[in-house]
Amino acid sequence: MEEKALYVADPRAGYLQLKQEIDAAIQGVLDGPVYILGETVSRFEAAFAAYIGAGYGVGVNNGTDAIHLALRGLGIGPGDEVITVSHTAVATVAAVVMAGATPVLADVDPATYTISPGAAAELITARTKAIIAVHLYGHPADLNALGALCERRGLKLVEDCAQAHGARYHGRRVGSFGHVSTFSFYPTKNLGAIGDGGMMLTSDPELARRLRLLRQYGWDTPQNSLIQGWNSRLDPMQAAILEVKLKHLDAHTARRRELARAYTSAFADLPFACPLEADGREHVHHLYVIRVPQRAVRDALRTHLLNANIHAGIHYPHPVHQQPAYEGHLRTGDMSVTEDAAVTVLSLPLYPELSDADQQRVIQTVRAYFNSAS
Ligand SMILES: Cc1ncc(COP(=O)(O)O)c(C=O)c1O
Repeated sequence: MEEKALYVADPRAGYLQLKQEIDAAIQGVLDGPVYILGETVSRFEAAFAAYIGAGYGVGVNNGTDAIHLALRGLGIGPGDEVITVSHTAVATVAAVVMAGATPVLADVDPATYTISPGAAAELITARTKAIIAVHLYGHPADLNALGALCERRGLKLVEDCAQAHGARYHGRRVGSFGHVSTFSFYPTKNLGAIGDGGMMLTSDPELARRLRLLRQYGWDTPQNSLIQGWNSRLDPMQAAILEVKLKHLDAHTARRRELARAYTSAFADLPFACPLEADGREHVHHLYVIRVPQRAVRDALRTHLLNANIHAGIHYPHPVHQQPAYEGHLRTGDMSVTEDAAVTVLSLPLYPELSDADQQRVIQTVRAYFNSAS
């Protein structure tokens, strides 16, 4: 009999674990009276902002909109450049384009896969207005260096925290460092909805006010657009679900970290690199990404896992600057780390509900590949 399929993430297992609480929260919204924004959304915005340590939360439709509107809120648009990475979900770069600004892409640090502050510094021009740091895979970017760089060069720092809910940098949660930070609640994220969702956080009251206007037609009062805006509102049903899940986030993060430690110690003698945690940073392991030195070995290992019904992922197989929509259109620095990562990274199953037995199955299958190959 074929063994059960294991994937990189399993949002349905997350729902089933909290089914009673989530079903009750959904019923609460169904009972009304408000189906757009309202108390439920405001309550979750306040709870999430307090959890991260930021002053204000503004819930939006998804993490891409959060970046887009964050840039608009900072007054960034046509003619402005925004530096970010190519080794990320395309959403980060797409959101810069949505704001009408020009993305400029920097290489990442080979140990943490987050933006290299040195590489970013080399790309700054008179048109640069902001740097978007992506805390990729759940590992915080080098926020001290980036904060100092932005301060020195008069730039805004935006944190893309889509993969890093609850991660800490020298004790403080990411999302509380930038002028504005953005989150996605896509179902597979560490804090995931059962549909789309996103949020912007800031501790600047004036910026928070502007972000609130931007997410709903620029309305200060209903039917009165003070500024031109969009329609991107966090759904109350999703806010209610997220409010439940937020209470479990620390326990889920602890489980993710436990699973990551177990992988890393089981793989200590194997010829690939496991994720590391830079000094003073707390990884929340949105993804557990190994780096296999040769592409052919990476791809063969992936196929070997697939034959055992284990679906490893590649985050990300195509750097944004090499994707058809962007190739030749974007200014970049040297991209050697990014381009190497695309052909060597492999994401193994890791989510809070992954059982020890299922993790052992992944470990044994990975080990069997290298035993038979040696
Ligand atoms: C790093 C990063 N930024 C932005 C996003 C966009 O989030 P969403 O899918 O909610 O639009 C994602 C998720 O897909 C992501 O992983």
